[in-house]
Order: sequence, then structure tokens, then C-alpha cells
Amino acid sequence: MKPIFDKKGLHSFLSSDKGKPGTLGLVPTMGALHQGHLSLVQQALSENSKVVVSIFVNPTQFNNPEDLEKYPKTLEADLALLKSVSEEIIVFAPSVSELYSLDISSKSYSFNGLDKVMEGAFREGHFNGVATIVEILLTLVRPDKAYFGEKDFQQLQIVRKLADKLHFPVDIVGCPIVREPNGLAMSSRNQLLSESIRQRAGIIYKTLHAAKCMFGTENATKIIEYVKGAFHKEPDIELEYFQIADTETLTPLKRKQENLKYRGFIAVYAEGVRLIDNIALN
Ligand code: PAF
Repeated sequence: MKPIFDKKGLHSFLSSDKGKPGTLGLVPTMGALHQGHLSLVQQALSENSKVVVSIFVNPTQFNNPEDLEKYPKTLEADLALLKSVSEEIIVFAPSVSELYSLDISSKSYSFNGLDKVMEGAFREGHFNGVATIVEILLTLVRPDKAYFGEKDFQQLQIVRKLADKLHFPVDIVGCPIVREPNGLAMSSRNQLLSESIRQRAGIIYKTLHAAKCMFGTENATKIIEYVKGAFHKEPDIELEYFQIADTETLTPLKRKQENLKYRGFIAVYAEGVRLIDNIALN
């Protein structure tokens, strides 16, 4: 499996069989692939005749240079993993200069408030960076479907809004969170954790699950207090936020409405590594 490193190569590869029947799927990734990514790839392969997997650690979505520096980069292992799934996958692994030239900066977008809460509030500029690279990838690949994991649920809703606002003729497909045996949501960042913390980080899903159980009978304030208390007992895992929000608008829950769907969203720090997760509450 030979990755394509440049835009021209990608273009000529994709245009060589334009007109042939079938659809094209895109799975955008930042590499350091794990079972969560592979589940997106499997779904894309089952729904399309061709699949592009992009591997690109996008500098403009990192608000913290240290975080970018330590983000795992494992291209050889990623290629081997993809090859074990299917030799037909088209891997696009451009360099930063190939996609950004000399201007490594984000465009500025407006997402009707979706980008102002949670990850948007705690990671300034993050979603402008994500939207910039997703717009570039959708423009270069022109997929019929693009696949994103629900672990980054806020990102998924923002990408849906982006595709809609910019009139990309693409279906944005959200795929379920894949978890480690202790419930920890799979993430490339998990490999930065020590084995002991990785085990104890099971508390994140355990607490989300308990919040879900409380949701039928308790109000948001009570549930938030419960979550804070749970992390108080685990000082090595520091809670950054827990919020209950409307699934569509991502506005924080004040008073439950029967016809709306809610999710609980969480971000924590463990050994300096930022982990996020979320759960459907109703
Ligand atoms: O979810 C990710 O891995 C990244 O945010 C994405 C969508 C590949 C953009 O860089």
C-alpha cells in the first residue's frame, strides 16, 4: 500500500476512474490509528466502492503547541494496520506545506454557537482549525460520504454545519464510539497514558453511565454535582468540564423538554493528557 503524498497525485488517482459506478467515502484521521478509526474505515468500505483515508496531524487545530508536539505520529504502523483491513484503501498522507503552503493558519467560521461551548470554550481556535482542514479535504477528495466518530460529537455537529453552509454534496456519517474493555473511549491520546492511569480512566465512562441512569429522575444541577464528586475521589484524573447539552444546538440544559435529545459531555486531564467522551442521556 503506497500512500499518496501530494494533491496532484490524489487528483490524478481519483480522476482516473471518474465516471465509473459507485461512491467515494472519506475517513479523515490524524493517524495513530486504533480500533475506533478502523470501525470508521470498515463502515466506509461497506458503504462505498472506494475509500480514501487521510492521515494528517493538522497543526491549526492545536491550541497548545506542546500538545501538537507530543501527538503520536506512527505512519508506518498506520499503513500496516490499514493494509490488514483492505489493500484497496487509498491513503492520502500529505505534508503540512502541501496543504497549507507557507500560511499555516485557520480560516474563520461561524457555526451558530455550536463552536462557542465546551471544546470551543476551552480550546480557543480549535474548531476554526478543524473546519479549515475538513474544508480542504472535502474540496480535494469530493467524497459522497465522510465518516466521523461520535467521540468528538461536537466536532461531528460542526462538520455537519460546515458541509451544509458550504454546500458540499456529501453525507456526513456519525459512527458510534468504540471503547476499551474498561469503558475508556478509544483515542490516539490513550497511548500517552501510563498503564495504571489508562485502567483508572475507566472512571470517565463509569461516571457518564451513572449520569445517564440519573437523568430520568434528577435535574442537571444534581447530576453535575454527582459527576464533580466522583472525580473528587480520583485526584489523578482532573475534571475540566461536565455538561449536559441539547444534541442539536449543544446549548446547556436548563429545563428538560420531552421532545429534545440530550447528551452528557466530559473533558478531563490525566497525566497532562486531555481526554473527552460523551453519552446519549435519553
Ligand atoms: O477527529 C480528528 O481526528 C480530526 O479532528 C480531523 C477530523 C481528522 C481533522 O483533523
